[in-house]
Amino acid sequence: MLETSHERRLRRGVRLWNLAARPNRGNRKVQSWQAPLWTLAAETLALRDGDAVADVGCGHGSALPALRDAVGETGRVVGVDLSPGMLAAAEGVIDEHGWENVEVRRADVCRDPLEAGAYDAVLASFVLAAVPDVGAAVDNLRDALRPGGRLFVGDMYFGPHLAARALRRIYRALTAGAAGDVVSALRARFATVEPVVNDRGQGGLPPPGRGWPPVAFVVATKA
Ligand SMILES: C[S@@+](CC[C@H](N)C(=O)[O-])C[C@H]1O[C@@H](n2cnc3c(N)ncnc32)[C@H](O)[C@@H]1O
Repeated sequence: MLETSHERRLRRGVRLWNLAARPNRGNRKVQSWQAPLWTLAAETLALRDGDAVADVGCGHGSALPALRDAVGETGRVVGVDLSPGMLAAAEGVIDEHGWENVEVRRADVCRDPLEAGAYDAVLASFVLAAVPDVGAAVDNLRDALRPGGRLFVGDMYFGPHLAARALRRIYRALTAGAAGDVVSALRARFATVEPVVNDRGQGGLPPPGRGWPPVAFVVATKA
């Protein structure tokens, strides 16, 4: 059977993420560098004891401890990823902690729906700009949230800056990323989309017209 362009892009992406998973596995330096981002995400998502939260594109599972801390023993954390290498690393994090309410599963965020309305919050960190169909992925995440549920997104956001445009070409050549930008896809599907900044004033959206640095941190709320 002929491979579709979606499948071809995903295959390229999975190859890259499997390679990237190797040095990350159990790498405490990477995990501690990311810790402030996970704290910011958990706070922005206003996670509470008993909440259900999905970490889409969970990678090697470095956000799982912060999410599990925030929802406690009575909550639920579901990590989703397409790369077997990344999933193996994330499973290692779960085994190490012995959590019973944290799981990871293999799925394509564009094509495999999560349980509809089952989540209070979703984290999508540096995944949506790397998928072939950002609109379908954002539809899926919106549908997975209960009304009033929140989605925290940190991602590449390529504006008009010359270097950002060059970087976009490279990023799309290496990952499964295709046309369409993440923030526009969110604005078309969520009641509100607001920039998120950390306590040092970093994050948010790049200044209009400049688009540098080429990253965005936003929280979207479902109507
Ligand atoms: C840059 S890593 C980000 C990992 C983690 N969220 C973080 O911020 O450290 C991107 C992750 O998204 C996953 N991914 C890429 N395309 C995906 C898809 N279509 N469905 C699910 N996961 C995907 C990759 O396997 C990889 O683990």
